[in-house]
Amino acid sequence: MATVHTSGSREPMVRIEGLRKSFGNLEVLRDINLDVMPGQVVTIIGASGSGKSTLLRCINLLETPDAGHVWFHGADLAADHVDVNRLREKIGMVFQGFNLFNNMNVLDNCTLAPVTLKKMKKDEAERVAMERLADVGLADFARANVANLSGGQKQRVAIARALCMQPDLMLFDEPTSALDPEIVGEVLEVMRRLAADGMTMVVVTHEMSFAKTVSDRVVFMDKGVIAEEGTPAEIFGAPKHARTREFLARYLED
Ligand SMILES: Nc1ncnc2c1ncn2[C@@H]1O[C@H](COP(=O)(O)OP(=O)(O)OP(=O)(O)O)[C@@H](O)[C@H]1O
Ligand SMILES: [Mg+2]
Repeated sequence: MATVHTSGSREPMVRIEGLRKSFGNLEVLRDINLDVMPGQVVTIIGASGSGKSTLLRCINLLETPDAGHVWFHGADLAADHVDVNRLREKIGMVFQGFNLFNNMNVLDNCTLAPVTLKKMKKDEAERVAMERLADVGLADFARANVANLSGGQKQRVAIARALCMQPDLMLFDEPTSALDPEIVGEVLEVMRRLAADGMTMVVVTHEMSFAKTVSDRVVFMDKGVIAEEGTPAEIFGAPKHARTREFLARYLED
C-alpha cells in the first residue's frame, strides 16, 4: 500500500518509553510507554499512589527518571544538553495547590516569568497577560491581590499565568481537587475551552465526566503501570481489565 499522508504526518509531541522511577525501595513507575500527539487531550486516572503525579512530573523533569526516555518535540530529555529552563518555558504546569505568589497581584503573577525568563518587555508582558486573563474571565481582577481571590479564581489565574509563557503543552495535576464542589465547574470550563482551542494537554484528574467528555485518550494507572488506555468510550463504556472496572465501580459509588 502507498504511504498514507495524514494531515502533516505528525510526530508525537511527547513520547515516553520504558520510563522507570523509584523512591528508595518503592517502585513508583514501572515501564511506562505513552505518546501524546499534538492537540491531544490525554487524561490520567487511577487510585491514590498509583504514580500519576510522578509520571506528570517526569515530563517536565521535576523528577528525574531512573531509566527510559522522555522525548519532547523529538528531543531526549535525558540528554545532557537539555536546557531545563527552556523546556519548562514550553511546558506549562498547573498544580492542585495553585502555587501563586500570594504577596503579588494577579497581573504581576502573570508577567513575572515572561519578564524574568523570556526577557519580555514589561508592557508587552502585561498586554499578553491581560489577554490571557480575559480568556479565563478575570480581566477585571488584574490588580487584585491573589490572597483575596476564591480558589476557583486562583486556579484560573494559575492557568492564565501558565499560558502567558505560550507553552506547547499544558500539564494539569488534579487542578480541581482543592476546590469547593460548586466552583469546580468554572475551572473545568476554562480547561474545556483550552482543549477546544487545540492545546495539547495531559490532565491528572478525578473528574470522570471531564475525562469522559474532553479527552481524546484516557490512561488508567494502577500500581506504577498503565493498566489500560483507550478512548473515553473504551475506558468508560467497555473497560477490558478487571482492575479498570473495579476502579471505576468504586469511583462511581462515591
Ligand atoms: N519525592 C518522593 N519521595 C518519596 N516517595 C514519593 C515521592 N513522591 C511520591 N512518592 C510516593 O510514590 C508513590 C506514587 O506517588 P504519586 O504522587 O505519583 O501518586 P499519585 O497517583 O499522584 O497519587 P494521588 O492520587 O494521591 O495524588 C506514593 O506512594 C508516594 O508516596
Ligand atoms: Mg498525585
